[in-house]
Amino acid sequence: MRKPIIAGNWKMNKTKSEAVSFVQEVKNSIPSASKVEAIVCSPDLFLDALVQEAQGTDLKIAAQNMHFEDNGAFTGETSPAALKDLGVEYVVIGHSERRDMFGETDESVNKKVKAALSHGLTPIICVGETLEEREANKTNDVVTTQVKGALEGLSESDVQKTVVAYEPVWAIGTGKTASSEDANETCGVIREVLSNTFSADTADAVQIQYGGSVKPANIEDLLGQQDIDGALVGGASLEADSFLKLVEAGN
Ligand code: G3P
Repeated sequence: MRKPIIAGNWKMNKTKSEAVSFVQEVKNSIPSASKVEAIVCSPDLFLDALVQEAQGTDLKIAAQNMHFEDNGAFTGETSPAALKDLGVEYVVIGHSERRDMFGETDESVNKKVKAALSHGLTPIICVGETLEEREANKTNDVVTTQVKGALEGLSESDVQKTVVAYEPVWAIGTGKTASSEDANETCGVIREVLSNTFSADTADAVQIQYGGSVKPANIEDLLGQQDIDGALVGGASLEADSFLKLVEAGN
């Protein structure tokens, strides 16, 4: 049985004091034995403080990106070893904003996924089509290529440790959510790719989240879909009460 994940991706928002206050506010409101995994994806600057603050609670802390090398001359980058050392448990890899603005490719995503796994970090791998690709009926091809590219060369047991987030680019920050049926259909396509490329057991094990204008008003519908195992949430994860509503919807 897959446990849904509600992950708040703050992107480049909040100061350290705002981030710490948020965690102080939500950490004890996550039900123990929660039916969903609750995660906050923070800018690197506050990861250390947030891991300390969330210790002993059911709130997990994630990074939003990392480099694939352990160390070296990569000015401004963060290594997976450093994230692991802080106690970070998850890392978002290949978000569409990083693919679009920072030159991420399926190849760099694949390297990062391998590096994350080798350090015991759980990668949340983002895939999704642009509006142009959707209108050209290329959604399934795009997500298939991205999923296969991200997981190329991984063992089946490693694939089972990954999380996939389906985030149609046109739905991110636009207020336009994919209908829960459409989102479920594409998550189903991703599961089929996992089944055909690896095995039915692997397809069954991997949590597939939906992301793109998720909010308290639509979360229940999305969570009710068979192939959707939670949500990766931007805007609606910035306020503590809204984040908690999303977590409560899964409980
Ligand atoms: O990673 C989450 C994200 O891209 C979705 O953002 O603001 O549409 O929920 P938002």
